[in-house]
Formats: sequence, C-alpha cells, structure tokens
Amino acid sequence: MYIKMENFCYLKIFFFIFIISSSSEAENMNMRNRVDKSTVFLVNVLSFGARANDQRDHTKAFVAAWDKACKSSSSSVHFIIPRGEFSVGPLRFSGPCTNVTNLTVQVKGHLKASTDLSKYRSGGGWIEFGWINGLTLTGGGTFDGQGALAWPFNNCTSDSNCKLLPTSLKFVGMNRTVVRRISSVNSKFFHIALVECRDFKGTRLNITAPSDSPNTDGIHIERSSNVYFSRSHIATGDDCVSIGQGNSQITITSIKCGPGHGISVGSLGKYPNEKDVKGLVVRDCKMSGTTNGIRIKTWANSPGLSAATNMTFENIIMNNVTNPIIIDQSYCPFSSCASNVPSKVKLSEIYFKNIRGTSSSRVAVQLHCSRGIPCKKVYLENVHLDLSSSEGGRKQSRNREYEAVSSSCRNVRANYIGTQIPPPCH
Ligand SMILES: *[C@@H]1O[C@H](CO)[C@@H](O)[C@H](O)[C@H]1NC(C)=O
Ligand SMILES: *[C@@H]1O[C@H](CO)[C@@H](O)[C@H](O)[C@H]1NC(C)=O
Ligand SMILES: *[C@@H]1O[C@H](CO)[C@@H](O)[C@H](O)[C@H]1NC(C)=O
Ligand SMILES: *[C@@H]1O[C@H](CO)[C@@H](O)[C@H](O)[C@H]1NC(C)=O
Ligand SMILES: *[C@@H]1O[C@H](CO)[C@@H](O)[C@H](O)[C@H]1NC(C)=O
Ligand SMILES: *[C@@H]1O[C@H](CO)[C@@H](O)[C@H](O)[C@H]1NC(C)=O
Ligand SMILES: *[C@@H]1O[C@H](CO)[C@@H](O)[C@H](O)[C@H]1NC(C)=O
Repeated sequence: MYIKMENFCYLKIFFFIFIISSSSEAENMNMRNRVDKSTVFLVNVLSFGARANDQRDHTKAFVAAWDKACKSSSSSVHFIIPRGEFSVGPLRFSGPCTNVTNLTVQVKGHLKASTDLSKYRSGGGWIEFGWINGLTLTGGGTFDGQGALAWPFNNCTSDSNCKLLPTSLKFVGMNRTVVRRISSVNSKFFHIALVECRDFKGTRLNITAPSDSPNTDGIHIERSSNVYFSRSHIATGDDCVSIGQGNSQITITSIKCGPGHGISVGSLGKYPNEKDVKGLVVRDCKMSGTTNGIRIKTWANSPGLSAATNMTFENIIMNNVTNPIIIDQSYCPFSSCASNVPSKVKLSEIYFKNIRGTSSSRVAVQLHCSRGIPCKKVYLENVHLDLSSSEGGRKQSRNREYEAVSSSCRNVRANYIGTQIPPPCH
C-alpha cells in the first residue's frame, strides 16, 4: 500500500504517464488506475489537535479531520483514530465525499460519548455517518456511549413531550458499508441503527449493555436493503437485533444473543405509510437467557396497511428463553392505545426450521395473529423445545404432565413438518 499527501499523487501519476508514454492508450489507463488505487490518503485525528487520554472534548478536531478526509481528491482515504481515550460528540460524518470511493475509518482507541444530553438532537446519533459510499469502519476500537448517566432520562413511555436519547452509531443513506471488528458498550439508546442503507455488512461486532438498560437495542435496521450481519456477540437490555419497516433482503447469521429481548421483526404498524418487510433470513443463531427468541410484533390498531413476508428463521438454538417463538399482533405497550382494534399488518410466508433448545415458560410457541388479517403460510419444521428447569431432569420426571410445553395459536393455521415439541395447536 502506498501512502501519500495530497498533490504528491499527481506528480506520481504524471511520472508514470511520462515513463509509459510510448505504450498504448489502454495500458496507459491501466497504469493510471493502478497508481490511483494503491495510493491512500491518510488523515489522523492527532494532526488536527486531538490528543489521546486528554480529558478535553475532541469534537472539533474530529470534525476538522473528517472535513479533510471527505473532501480529499483521493479515491481511497484512511481516517485514523489511534489508541487511547477520546471524548467526543455528537459527531456528524456526512458525505457526499465526491471523489472518495473507499473511506476506511480505523478506530483503535476508546471513544467516549459526551454525557451532556442537551448537546444531542432528539432521535439523532452520538456518531452519525450519512450519505457516504464505500465506508469501512473497523480497527478493534470501542464506542462507549456512557449510557448509565442517560438511562434515568429515558422517559418516553410516560412523557409524550420527551426527547429521544441518541443512538451510538447511526448510519443514514449509506451505500456499500462494512463495519467490522468494533465494540459498542453502554449506548444511551440503540447501539447501532441503519436507516435507508444499501449493501451493508456488519461482522465481528461486540455489543454490550446491562440487561436492565432501557432501549439499548443492539442493531436496529429500517428502510434498508441487502444488509448482512454475522459473527457477533450481542448482550443488551432490549432487542439484540430489531428489523423495522421497509426492509428487504436482510440476513442475520451466527449471532450470539443474550441477555436481551431476542431477535425481533417490528414493531410494525405504528405509523401511517409504513413500507413492507420482505426477504429476511435469520440463521445459525444462539439465544441465551433472553425474554424472546424469535419475535414478530405488530401494533394493534395500526393506522395503515402493510405486510411482512418471506421470512425464514433457521437453525436457532434457544437456551432458557422465555418465549422462544412468538408472533404478537396485538402489541400495545401503552395503556392509551385501543388494543381491541386488530392489527392491519399482513404476515405471510414465515418459516421456522430447526429450532431447538429450552424454554423457561410453558408456552414455547405462541402464534397470535391479527383477527382482522390472519397470518398466511406459516411453517414450523423440526421444532424441539423442552422446558428449562433449574433442577434439570429430576423435577421433569417427577411430574411430566406439569412440565410439558405447549403451543398457543390465534387466527392462524400453521403447517407442521417433522418433529414438533411442543405439539401443534389443534
Ligand atoms: C473499494 O471497495 C470495494 C468494495 O467496497 C472493493 O472491491 C475495492 O477493492 C476497494 N478498493 C480499494 C482501493 O480499496
Ligand atoms: C474531484 O474530481 C474532479 C474530477 O477529477 C475534480 O474536478 C474536482 O476538483 C475534485 N474534487 C475535489 C474535492 O478534489
Ligand atoms: C446510493 O445508491 C442509490 C442507488 O444507486 C442512489 O440513489 C444514492 O444516491 C446513493 N447514495 C449516495 C450517498 O451516493
Ligand atoms: C423526561 O426527561 C426529560 C429530560 O430528557 C425531562 O426534562 C422531563 O422533565 C422528564 N419528564 C418526566 C415526566 O419525568
Ligand atoms: C465484548 O465486550 C465486553 C465488554 O467490553 C467484554 O467484557 C468482552 O470480553 C468482549 N467480548 C469479546 C468476544 O470481545
Ligand atoms: C425470499 O427471500 C430470500 C432471501 O432474502 C430470497 O433469496 C428469495 O428470492 C425470496 N423469495 C421470494 C419469493 O421473494
Ligand atoms: C432461566 O431463566 C429464568 C428467568 O427467565 C431464570 O430465573 C432461571 O434462573 C434461568 N435458569 C437457568 C438454568 O439459567
């Protein structure tokens, strides 16, 4: 790899063009491309006044460095945050970065979020990446949301004039993003959120927050397509992964989840004009001690019609999960909503395959669909869920009847293939 400072690059290109001027035009172009691609423009936050392990706020230095990186005429840029602690935020890393096609943000350090809540926009991000093509965020560093001081101010369930706390890493309108090998701890709200992203790949992430921290969802995805998350460890106080409205072609694989609320589709149908969810695959995941395993939830009394279809949940291990498989179409967490009106979100083509392990509640499979629009084409294939019990098999053999797990269904006729423990609904 080649390292350059601005301008120098052009000298290099001209030099090559001069050397090869006798060769053909095609070769000439090849050479030019090669020089361009192997040339990386480095931007280090230390060159802009940031100092590691210095208690001051470094937001200004980071913004100045970003400005330089994004406006670079190089196609390939490395933005470097070295080892050490840096207090920053909120930060907005916005594009378009016109001439940059690959922008690698290498975080080796430990970034700490500002604890002054007045600095953040409601529903914004601590660190927001927006309208960038070809971003890679990596380096093994940590994003520390310092959420503990903010969680007491999470009062949106009781105060309608509330301010939403910031998401740690928010990605908006991004194309071709890779997030690899980073940690996120104690977000104030969600850890990672994607909004209107295309071609997003997240892997080897380590996401942690206490099990009683409010709304600290690991990864939330909305209005995005071609999204792939894999090989990650997520332990939070809310959903490990939540898949909101308007998503298509989403793949979630090899995730270890727990504690937390499991992997959720939804909640859907809260707002008017929501877009459909289609083409979701959740595969090879392990849930441990979570309140839900796989959950699909839609609001009762949804204001508009929408649908969620073609969703596959395959090879999922449940370890002491309260509701391993749950469809809840009358989701209504606040007493104010009229929950007797059925949900208008249509659920169809849902496949649960090879789901095994233990349930900490007796109803291991709950399929409660909308009275207004029953679920269609729901398949359960090879489901084996036993009751988990702190006393293990001993208690089970003493009272088998009491220990049996069951299914509960409303407004759905599921199709059953292979092993079924609990037994199907009649
Ligand atoms: C730029 O990124 C694309 C994919 O995102 C990759 O195929 C290509 O090799 C990268 N180019 C450089 C110079 O890193
Ligand atoms: C981007 O590239 C174009 C064409 O090569 C050039 O005219 C323009 O000045 C460059 N912009 C920046 C910010 O370097
Ligand atoms: C991302 O790709 C879409 C579709 O190609 C395009 O409309 C959009 O402008 C792109 N976003 C950016 C930041 O270039
Ligand atoms: C909710 O939290 C905000 C601070 O984010 C505070 O100003 C407001 O008074 C709180 N409301 C209630 C009802 O506690
Ligand atoms: C994940 O992060 C937590 C908290 O920082 C840490 O205790 C744990 O060792 C990390 N796990 C991995 C696999 O890196
Ligand atoms: C269902 O989703 C999968 C995975 O995203 C996709 O490959 C497949 O083409 C979709 N099937 C239909 C009928 O849309
Ligand atoms: C299973 O989870 C329940 C709470 O959901 C907990 O009380 C119990 O101790 C857990 N059992 C095991 C064996 O971890």
